[in-house]
Amino acid sequence: MMRDAEPKVIRLQDYQVPNFQITKTELHFNLEPTETLVTSKLQFERNAKSENKSAALELHGQDIEIQSLKINGEELTDEQYQVNPESLTVFSVPDVFEFECVGKINPQENTSLEGLYKSRSMFCTQCEAEGFRKITYYLDRPDVMSEFTTTVEADKALYPILLSNGNPIEKGELDNNRHFVTWHDPHKKPAYLFALVAGDLSVLDDTFTTSSGRDVALKIFVEPKDLDKCDHAMTSLKNAMKWDEDVYGREYDLDIFMIVAVDDFNMGAMENKGLNIFNTSCVLAKAETTSDTGFQRVEAVVAHEYFHNWSGNRVTCRDWFQLSLKEGFTVFRDSEFSADMGSRTVKRVEDANVLRTLQFAEDAGPMAHPVQPPSFIEISNFYTLTIYEKGAEVVRMIHTLLGAETFRKGSDIYFAENDGTAATIDDFISAMSKASGKDFTQFMTWYRQAGTPVLNVADNYDAENQKYTLTFTQSCPDTPEAKSEDKKPYLIPVRLGLLGESGPLPLEISDLGISGVTDTVVEITESTQCIEFSNVSEKPVPSLLRSLSAPVKLQFDYSRDQLIKIMSNDEDGFNRWEASQQLCVQVIQELMSGRQSEQPVAVDPNLVAAFDRLLKDDNLDPAMVANMLSLPSESYLAELAEEIDVDAIHQCRAQLKKTLAEELCESFAQRWQKTPATVDYKADAEQIGLRSIRNMCLSYLVASGQEQWFGVAYEQFSSANNMTDQFSAMSALVHSDSELAESYASKALAEFYQQWSEEALVVNQWFGVQASKAHPNTLEQVKALMEHPAFTMKNPNKVRSVIGAFANNPVCFHAIDGSGYKFLADQIIELNALNPQIAARLLTPLTRWKKQTQQRQALMIEELKRIQSVADLSKDVYEVVSKSLV
Ligand code: ARG
Ligand code: ZN
Repeated sequence: MMRDAEPKVIRLQDYQVPNFQITKTELHFNLEPTETLVTSKLQFERNAKSENKSAALELHGQDIEIQSLKINGEELTDEQYQVNPESLTVFSVPDVFEFECVGKINPQENTSLEGLYKSRSMFCTQCEAEGFRKITYYLDRPDVMSEFTTTVEADKALYPILLSNGNPIEKGELDNNRHFVTWHDPHKKPAYLFALVAGDLSVLDDTFTTSSGRDVALKIFVEPKDLDKCDHAMTSLKNAMKWDEDVYGREYDLDIFMIVAVDDFNMGAMENKGLNIFNTSCVLAKAETTSDTGFQRVEAVVAHEYFHNWSGNRVTCRDWFQLSLKEGFTVFRDSEFSADMGSRTVKRVEDANVLRTLQFAEDAGPMAHPVQPPSFIEISNFYTLTIYEKGAEVVRMIHTLLGAETFRKGSDIYFAENDGTAATIDDFISAMSKASGKDFTQFMTWYRQAGTPVLNVADNYDAENQKYTLTFTQSCPDTPEAKSEDKKPYLIPVRLGLLGESGPLPLEISDLGISGVTDTVVEITESTQCIEFSNVSEKPVPSLLRSLSAPVKLQFDYSRDQLIKIMSNDEDGFNRWEASQQLCVQVIQELMSGRQSEQPVAVDPNLVAAFDRLLKDDNLDPAMVANMLSLPSESYLAELAEEIDVDAIHQCRAQLKKTLAEELCESFAQRWQKTPATVDYKADAEQIGLRSIRNMCLSYLVASGQEQWFGVAYEQFSSANNMTDQFSAMSALVHSDSELAESYASKALAEFYQQWSEEALVVNQWFGVQASKAHPNTLEQVKALMEHPAFTMKNPNKVRSVIGAFANNPVCFHAIDGSGYKFLADQIIELNALNPQIAARLLTPLTRWKKQTQQRQALMIEELKRIQSVADLSKDVYEVVSKSLV
C-alpha cells in the first residue's frame, strides 16, 4: 500500500505470455487468526511459448513474512533471491523444478478483505482479481492455470467446517484439538478462483440431478442464526442449473457445489470453483426480513455466480483487460435468466434504469473507459458498470443481431474452442462470427471506444408518395482517451415500429427487403443514415429503440401527444414505459425552466390525465403500471441535464409528485383499495407486481400530505407480514416533506430498529433510509448513525448503507456549504488505510464535478485535492483521484 514512486500503469499492449507455468499447486494452511502459516509446493515448468528461455522466476506476493524458501528441496541462500514489497525474484532456476515456500500472514489484521481474512468468527478468502498474492508467492495472473490440492488445518471446536475448491479427499484429527481436511480440485484454474473457508457454520443441503443423470450435492453454509434464510438461494440455484442446461446446454462438472455467506465482503459475490463466496446480502432472504428487490437480487447473484462456472471458470480470461469477456457475458446470462423467471419487460426496465442512470454517468465521468480498457493502474477499480452492464448490453446486441438460435451456436463454438483455457474477447467474437458468417469488424467499436453514443433521429412524412423517412445521426462525446471527432461510428441495432391512428403499421423497407412485419431491427452503421419506409398511409409515430436495443442516448423530438400515444398503444411494453418517463421528463424540465425564470408553470394536465388512465387500466400488468407511475429518478434527471441544479431537480420532481398525488388522490386511493395485500408471501412476478402497485399508490397518497394517509401508512408498517410492505410504508413516511408526517416517521423508525436490531441486513436498510432523506439535518443524522453501536467502518455493507447512501443523496451531499463533500473526503481518507477498494468506490460521487455549478465544482475539487495530498494513498484511491483531477 505504500508508494514511493507514481504507481505503474499496466497496458494491454504490453501483454506477454508467462515465462513459467505451474502444473501443480499444493497448499497447506495452518489457520490462526494473527499468524497463519501457509506452505506452498509449486511444480514449475518453463513455458514453451515464452520468448525469454532463461528468465528469472518472478513471483507476486505482498504482506507475507517468509519463513523458508526451497527449490527442489534445497533452502535458498540470501544471494539467490530478492524480496520487494510486491514481488519475489529467484535469479536462476532450472527449466523444471519444485518451489516451496513457507510464509506467515495475518488474517485478523487484514481489513482490505482481499486475500485471506476474518469475517466475524470465520476465515474466508477473496482472491479476484489479485488477492491470492496476499496468501502466498505465486504467478497471480489468470493465464497461469494449475491443479490445486489444499489442506486446511485449524482448531476443531472453533472451525468445525473446513472448505476449499473441488472434492474433499482426506480428513483427520490432529494434536491440540486440531483437525484437517484436504480438498482436490481436478479442474485447472487460475489463482483468482481459489477459495478457502473455515468456521462454525450450519448448512442447508439439497441435490440436483444434471441432464445426463449425475447427482450434485448442493450446500449453502451460513452462520447458524441464518439457516432459516437460505431456501430462496437454494431454489434460485437449482433453477439456474436447470436454465443453463436448457438455454446454453451447460452442465455442472463437479460432484459438489457450495455457497458460503459472509458478512464482510467488498462486492456481491465470487465464483470460486465449486465454492462460491457471497456477501450475506446476496444469499439470505426471508419474507419478514427481505424486500422483493432483495429476493430478486439473491436470485440474480446466485445465478450469476453459478453461470460463471462456464463463462469464467471453464473458459477464463487471458488477462484483466478481458474482464468483460466473463462479466459482460455472465451479466447478460443472469439478466435473461431473471427475465425468464419473472417478468421480462419489468426486468428490462430495471436494467435500463441502472444503465441509463449509473453507467451513462460513468461514461460521462473521469473514469470512463471502453468495455475493453487499454490500461489501468489498479484492476479493482475496473469492476465497473461499464465492464458489467455495458458489457452485457454489448453481448445483448450480438444476440439481437444474430437471433437466439445463431447466438446459441456461437456460444457452443466459444465453449468448445476455449474450454480449459484463458481466452480473449476476440475469441468470443470469433466464435460468434463463425456461427453467423457476420463480419464484426465495425462492431468492435463497442469494446474499444468509451462514452455513450448519441443517436439523433429526425423524421419526414411525404403524404403524396406515402413515404416516411427516418434520418439517423450518431456521435459519441469526448472521453478521457479520445476526442469525439476521432471516434468511429458504431454499428447500432435499432429495433423499431411505426404507430398509426388505429394501431401498428406494416413496415415496408424495400432497401432492406423488409415487409409484412410491424417490428424489425435495422442496423445503423454510418454517421448519418436514412431509412425509407414505403406505402405509409398516414403520418406515423415512430417507436424507436424498442427494448433499449442499444446502449445509446436516443434523441427524437417527440410531442407530448406522440408520447401519450406510445404510452398507451405501443406493442413494445418497454417503450410504453419509456414514453411515460420521457413525458415526465418533459414536464419536470418545464417546471424547472419556470422556476428558473421565476414564472411558475402548472403541471401539464395531459400528464395528469394519462396517469389517471393508467391507474384505471386493469388490463395492464400491475408491475408495469407501477413502473410507469414511478417518476424518473433525480439521478436520471441529473444525467440528462447540461448543468446540474440539484435543488431544482429535487423540488420540481417533488412538486410533480405532490400535484399528481393531490389531483389523482381518488384514483390512487381506489387503486390502492382494490389491490389486496398479499397473504402467503411469494417472490413471484405476480405478487411482486401487486405489492409494487399497492406501495406505489401508498407513496403518492402519503406525498399528497393528507394526514389520514400517514395513519394508513403507519398501520401498514405495523401490521405488514413482509419486509416489502413494512419498509415501503416506513420509507414513504420518512421521505415525506410534511411536518405532520414526522411523528409517524420517527415512531416507525424507532419501532423498526427495536424489532430488527438482531438482523444486520435489516439494520443496514434502516441506516440507508435515514441517510437518503432530503433534509437539512441529514448530515448530522448520518454522523450520529456512525456512532451507533451497529455501525462499523470495517464492514462494507454498513459503510455503503450509511456513507454510500449519503454520498448518493443528491440534495444533502451537494449542500452548498460544501459540508457533504468535506464529510465524504474525511471518510475516504480513513477508509484508504482500512480498505482501499471500498475507499475508491465510495469516492465516485465526488469525482463527478464536471456538470455541477461552478461554486460546487470548486468545493469538490478542493476536497479531491485534499485526498490527493494524503501520504500513503493506496493505488486504488490514487488512480480515481488523479484521473478525476485531470
Ligand atoms: N467476479 C465477481 C463477480 O462478478 C466479482 C469479484 C470482484 N472482486 C473485486 N476485487 N473487485 O461475480
Ligand atoms: Zn461476475
